[in-house]
Amino acid sequence: MSTSSRIAIVGVGNVGATAAYSLMLRGLFAEIVLIDHAPERAAAEATDIADANAISQPVRIWAGDYADVRDASILVITAGAATKDGEPRTAIAGKSAVIVRDCVRQAMDAGFNGILVVASNPADAMTQVAQATSGLSPERVIGTGTLLDSNRFRKRIADQLAIAPGAVEALVLGEHGDSEVMAYSTVRIGGMDLDGYLGEQGFDRAAIAHDVMRAGYTISDGKGYTSFGVATAITRICEAIHRDERVILPVATMLRGQYGIDGIYLSLPCLIGAGGVLRVLTPALTTDEQSALLASADVLRQTIEAVY
Ligand code: 2OP
Repeated sequence: MSTSSRIAIVGVGNVGATAAYSLMLRGLFAEIVLIDHAPERAAAEATDIADANAISQPVRIWAGDYADVRDASILVITAGAATKDGEPRTAIAGKSAVIVRDCVRQAMDAGFNGILVVASNPADAMTQVAQATSGLSPERVIGTGTLLDSNRFRKRIADQLAIAPGAVEALVLGEHGDSEVMAYSTVRIGGMDLDGYLGEQGFDRAAIAHDVMRAGYTISDGKGYTSFGVATAITRICEAIHRDERVILPVATMLRGQYGIDGIYLSLPCLIGAGGVLRVLTPALTTDEQSALLASADVLRQTIEAVY
């Protein structure tokens, strides 16, 4: 498996370009290759980001093609269809699957032998499509999944409690989408669970859960798309792989019987290192949370069946 200091991004739209910029700022990779069906767009984004080199990170970034992914340790896929008019992410599964399959096939034909990180929506199903198309072992095909949603969850809980988002542990599990599970039982603040920390203080669980689940729609209503949150999630996953951090992040992975779910990509907390997903964790969940996770798995099973 390649451990080079090159990362490639297929899909240089709002998410891909923002991820490229974020990765450049981190200075993690010596080389960033941008691939897009509109090469002039990839070239423009590469030039624009490279113009920061003199005062930022000396990352070599260029618009390339699939021949360049052979020596990449990580391939990020953001290429896919875009939702419109508030439709659910699952509505574009068929269109995105065609695009993702083509991208992965070209990358594998070019000799890619690293780790795939998939953000194309619907993210969980597209990660599963990428894994099936690539033939790579599932631990080497990771979806951004609910890392973004968990960050949103942590931020909104923190705002309610007037504490730093980094002080809140909280997991969103299952689908990166309408059926996602706000696992309040996983919330820890300084080792205290939410009820323990709240004491007599009020907290509207349902309102926070709704705000988190609707965040992608709300942001898109305002700016036409989302980019910074998901691009930062992509960067965090790539950083964890590249540094072999062995950090635990909620990402989309192939379940093999956890909570009675098998053969479906959805998000659980995973130990992430150079080899990709090193372990899938199964936190104790309430009965309601487990039921919601099974319902989320059903949504994803229907979504993936519809694209085959
Ligand atoms: C998000 O939730 C649109 O899936 C993207 O920001």
